[in-house]
Amino acid sequence: MSLRRYLRDLESAGRLLTVVRPVDPHLEMATVIHALGEQPVRFEHATGSGYPVVAGLCSRRDLLALGLGIAREGLLAALRQALHHPVAPEMVADAPCQEVVDERVCLSHLPILTHLSADGGPYVSAGVAVVKDPELGRNLSFHRLLRLDDRRFAIRLVEGRGTHTAWQKAPGGLEIAICIGNAPAVLLAAAMSPAPGTDELALANALAPAPLVKCRTVDLEVPADAEIVLEGHITRECVDEGPFLDLTETMDLVRQQPVVEIQCITHRRDALYQALLPGGLEHKLLMGMPREPTIYDQVSRLCDCVTVLLTPGGGSWLHAVVQIRKRHADDGRRAMEAALQGHPSLKHVLVVEDDINIYDPAELEWSIATRVQADTSMVVWPDQGGSSLDPSALHVPGQKSRTAKVGIDATIPWIKPAGELRTEAERNAFRRTRYPFVSVNQYVLKKD
Ligand SMILES: Cc1cc2nc3c(=O)[nH]c(=O)nc-3n(C[C@H](O)[C@H](O)[C@H](O)COP(=O)(O)O)c2cc1C
Repeated sequence: MSLRRYLRDLESAGRLLTVVRPVDPHLEMATVIHALGEQPVRFEHATGSGYPVVAGLCSRRDLLALGLGIAREGLLAALRQALHHPVAPEMVADAPCQEVVDERVCLSHLPILTHLSADGGPYVSAGVAVVKDPELGRNLSFHRLLRLDDRRFAIRLVEGRGTHTAWQKAPGGLEIAICIGNAPAVLLAAAMSPAPGTDELALANALAPAPLVKCRTVDLEVPADAEIVLEGHITRECVDEGPFLDLTETMDLVRQQPVVEIQCITHRRDALYQALLPGGLEHKLLMGMPREPTIYDQVSRLCDCVTVLLTPGGGSWLHAVVQIRKRHADDGRRAMEAALQGHPSLKHVLVVEDDINIYDPAELEWSIATRVQADTSMVVWPDQGGSSLDPSALHVPGQKSRTAKVGIDATIPWIKPAGELRTEAERNAFRRTRYPFVSVNQYVLKKD
């Protein structure tokens, strides 16, 4: 499903807002997107640019489900299916993204948003980069891009990720195609980190058909349905990149990062520019959701995993809730260890049972309140490799960040404080007693 088709579906579902008056990409548009609660929105007029802007398109799970044409509950299964069974995309000769080919590159024509006054400048925030690793093949990944001038960006390459390792293998620079205005399947695939050598464009295509076209000036293939494609190369030159708001809603540091030079822009005749709010719901969801199947697979090796959720309060990156059907006394502990292996950036993991609604923070807290004894239900692992995004971790340039990790087993404890096993009846006594459902429509409600 292309972005166009998805926008039509959003419109028919009454989920797409339209702003008709001109809005300035410099500091105004991001504030409006935020004030709208990141609901899907189309800005008809971006001041200083001929491109309309769309934003907030994947800010909620039900929107992503709509974008993939599935039910919300089917998201984790769909991601697992794509990860385990990628489908090679079809190649096409004529593509919407190449209706216009322009080698007179002028990046100032694009409505690139400056999100906050503390930012290092205008940033492309929803750009998906395609590169080719000389040994591992194609890689698809998000990279924020700071516009330096009319032909150049600074690109943030997180060390050890696909684009960074490919760039390190290319002493003369690495070809890159940056796609802006992508279907939800492409956005999700770009945020996945499958086994090295897996073609993430085939993951996107497994989620929803995403045919490819050859680029005009670089030896790369891009989704034919993209709105805008910037072709160029990542040079060996490095410049200051940042500050920029990151996932944890704290400002990321200024670092020396590579320069990207753009030599050609291809786009649809009436192309849309796509933006997303750094540190916002969409950033978090796209970042975290693709890790849920990886954690699920790891936990499932050891116990009966129901589902996994990376919670927005943890930046959808640092905190996971793992829901299991407990079959053995130590399943909770095994699940937390497996979860930390399944997502090495995870810092805190909470394991709960299948009677808890994991989407309700109050229920999660209730399960901690009623099932946890800190001396036996918690494990602390000091000095572990952690996320570069955690401001409280120990960061040494060029080294993996270090952090303490915590697992909380909030499943029903099978072992009593004195050491003996609880009977099934005793375990069931931990379950919440719920009031039966009644439809209030049958009662006459009166307000004084
Ligand atoms: C909205 C968004 C923005 C991101 N920005 C960056 C970035 O600027 N640099 C980076 O290296 N990774 C960034 N990421 C993370 C990568 O896209 C993600 O980790 C991806 O899985 C890396 O895949 P790879 O390991 O196959 O390269 C971002 C992710 C999202 C969802």
